[in-house]
Amino acid sequence: MRYSTLEGGKRVRAILVYASGLALGAPLARLDTVAAAIECIHAYSLIHDDLPAMDDDALRRGKPTNHIAFDEATAILAGDALQALAFELIASESNHLTDAQSRKIAAVLARACGRDGMVGGQQRDIDATGQQLTREQLEQVHREKTGALIRSAVIAGALCSDQFTESAERALSIYAEKLGLAFQVIDDVLDVESSTEQLGKVSGADAASGKVTYPELIGLEESHKLATKLHQQAIESLAPIGDNTQYLLEVAELIVKRKH
Ligand code: IPE
Ligand code: IPE
Ligand code: MG
Ligand code: MG
Ligand code: MG
Repeated sequence: MRYSTLEGGKRVRAILVYASGLALGAPLARLDTVAAAIECIHAYSLIHDDLPAMDDDALRRGKPTNHIAFDEATAILAGDALQALAFELIASESNHLTDAQSRKIAAVLARACGRDGMVGGQQRDIDATGQQLTREQLEQVHREKTGALIRSAVIAGALCSDQFTESAERALSIYAEKLGLAFQVIDDVLDVESSTEQLGKVSGADAASGKVTYPELIGLEESHKLATKLHQQAIESLAPIGDNTQYLLEVAELIVKRKH
């Protein structure tokens, strides 16, 4: 669990929790818990995504994947336990969240990583391997497998604030949905354009394993254009949030301009 969680990783989902929470004046102590919980879920998803039964990858964050460093059973169990740990953190008595906030955040996270979110998207991704998808179908895969957890990071961060409003939730939802999709479009692009060294995971793995990706479906140039358009829409959606959007703007730029 430590091997796959504590070293490396860009911490994009944690940063999103802070950026969104701070935009609404949430206390850092609450955001720490939620950011840690979401990174545990993310680390679990990577361990399982790399398993031989899934993407069968040997390199992650510049190191051997969990099942290579240990063994498959350990990798499955480490992932299972990281997911449980995330909900233990959210439910803990000493995490500075109110009971209502804990309950709402747990519900948002559970939905985002389950059947209607990440796990559902991972199933669709696997079912689509070696198949043809329409653009709408590929968008659904990406929204679920990657976008859902990213959206939950933004909403859960906002839920840590006592100034959470439905209008802020609507604006942040659009921001997060646009960015969540952009994140996976860029992940697909980097699999083609970046090196294994830069990525810390094997580049070209999608094509080698017959994954349906944005570059494969619409080409690299259109994929870049789509990411730029989604970035622009994400930024525009922040208008109702007020003046503290600096970190939300910075992380949006990081997500589309990243090289790994
Ligand atoms: C990789 O996510 C998996 C996807 C959902 C595309 P990241 O690119 O955020 O991975 P780390 O945490 O930085 O290693
Ligand atoms: C991963 O998508 C999505 C999840 C881990 C839920 P990918 O399979 O494209 O991620 P990488 O490229 O292996 O990081
Ligand atoms: Mg995968
Ligand atoms: Mg993968
Ligand atoms: Mg990928």
